[in-house]
Amino acid sequence: MATGLVTASYIVATILFILSLGGLSNPESSRRGNLYGIIGMALAVLATVFGPQVTPAGYPWIIGAMIVGASVGLYASRVVRMTQMPELVALMHSLVGLAAVFVGFANFIDPFAAAHFTGAEKTIHAIEIYVGVLIGAITFSGSVIAFGKLAGRISGKPVLLPGRHLLNLAGLLLAIAFGVTFVRSNAIGAGTMPLLALLALTAIALLFGVHLVMAIGGADMPVVVSMLNSYSGWAAAATGFMLSNDLLIVTGALVGSSGAILSYIMCRAMNRSFLAVIAGGFGTDGGVPAAGAGAGAAPAGEVTPITAAETAELLREAKRVIIVPGYGMAVAQAQHTVYEITRLLRDRGVNVRFGIHPVAGRMPGHMNVLLAEAKVPYDIVFEMDELNADFPNTDVAMVIGANDIVNPAAQDDPTSPIAGMPVLEVWKAKISVVMKRSMASGYAGVDNPLFYKENNRMLFGDAKKMLDEVLAALKG
Ligand code: TAP
Repeated sequence: MATGLVTASYIVATILFILSLGGLSNPESSRRGNLYGIIGMALAVLATVFGPQVTPAGYPWIIGAMIVGASVGLYASRVVRMTQMPELVALMHSLVGLAAVFVGFANFIDPFAAAHFTGAEKTIHAIEIYVGVLIGAITFSGSVIAFGKLAGRISGKPVLLPGRHLLNLAGLLLAIAFGVTFVRSNAIGAGTMPLLALLALTAIALLFGVHLVMAIGGADMPVVVSMLNSYSGWAAAATGFMLSNDLLIVTGALVGSSGAILSYIMCRAMNRSFLAVIAGGFGTDGGVPAAGAGAGAAPAGEVTPITAAETAELLREAKRVIIVPGYGMAVAQAQHTVYEITRLLRDRGVNVRFGIHPVAGRMPGHMNVLLAEAKVPYDIVFEMDELNADFPNTDVAMVIGANDIVNPAAQDDPTSPIAGMPVLEVWKAKISVVMKRSMASGYAGVDNPLFYKENNRMLFGDAKKMLDEVLAALKG
């Protein structure tokens, strides 16, 4: 394939990626967005494989790698449950980081690069290797720890080492020092000294990634996942520089910047400082999950249980209902029953709406995806800010498997680990019903004073089972 045709294909692929990102920003256009992404990626792979940078001798390697990669991808997409998606995404981010590190080392020992680059070009190439390995290693180790935390294999509690900011600073200074040694040695492809500097840099970056994510508390993980998404984009862009592949640079920058924008939006949604996120361990100084409660105001009192039949009775008499889904709805796969109940109530003239918290579930847009899958109309699904003022005019607020996102301690208890995080104010409705299996805390590991409020009822049990019973009672 001629270079001109490859360039033209890359430009078309880039446009398709931008259209894809635009499409994915709205549930209604997301299928189209996905399609653009698939076509763009297919075009990019074909243009790269048949372009001048790949010789026919490389085809068996590429085809072999594609078969292995596609098999793993197909297998993962079949067996991974929706609730495990964030772990899978974190794992994929780690692979992007690892690839950047490998490409960096390969470029360093590549005899072609050593002979090809001279003078200033050689220095620039060394800087590209240095930056690629640095970002790649941080992304790799940080994503592996994020995977462990999301999968519950590593404790969600923040590990706050004494003098952690000083440690971060020392790591940064050492990384710069080794980077300068590496670049100034001007010896791509040869030399023990630059190799040692590169290895030392990699070790520091790996430790830095581990430290960065270990210091993050459970409730702040969403921001970390989107931040690592952004890092993986920059790692891909760095790989693009090392391989002199324009499309990889542009695509990496698109992922990097959109991930950074998402992190910023999440930080605002959770009332956290964006700069503090990048520094690591944000929002955790006073926020180590206390044993069972937000330290200041341990909730006390008794909870009032309710049965499915009584819940159906409340819904039957209600005029205005707001449903707040959370992670438990995803675990129970209760979205289809939620839809059936919604349809029944709407047919009877009840105003039913959904309130979605920006970090409900375990990944951005988690609840929207589930509700869309169950065919809940988009026009009754609202974001938290659009709906919060309406709770005082609501007869029943039905909380389905949500916990942290409806925790009033975020507003009332400054010592709580989730203090300052905006929440859905379900307790302001005339009555709220919380569906969950036990009194267990949510992801952030803090007790929820909502459960003890006078106008709150607890419907204990698996959300799907309970909602099936509510639906049967409503029909009966
Ligand atoms: P959580 O606070 O995690 O609460 C979910 C609740 O669902 C649990 O308390 C659990 O209580 C209940 N549950 C689990 N399985 C259930 C089932 N089968 N039936 C009924 N209930 C069930 O979820 P949330 O309110 O959606 O808040 C999200 C949390 O995850 C936030 O802390 C957020 O920061 C964090 N997080 C979010 C993301 C993103 S991007 N969305 C990523 C990582 C972390 P029982 O065990 O008693 O049933």
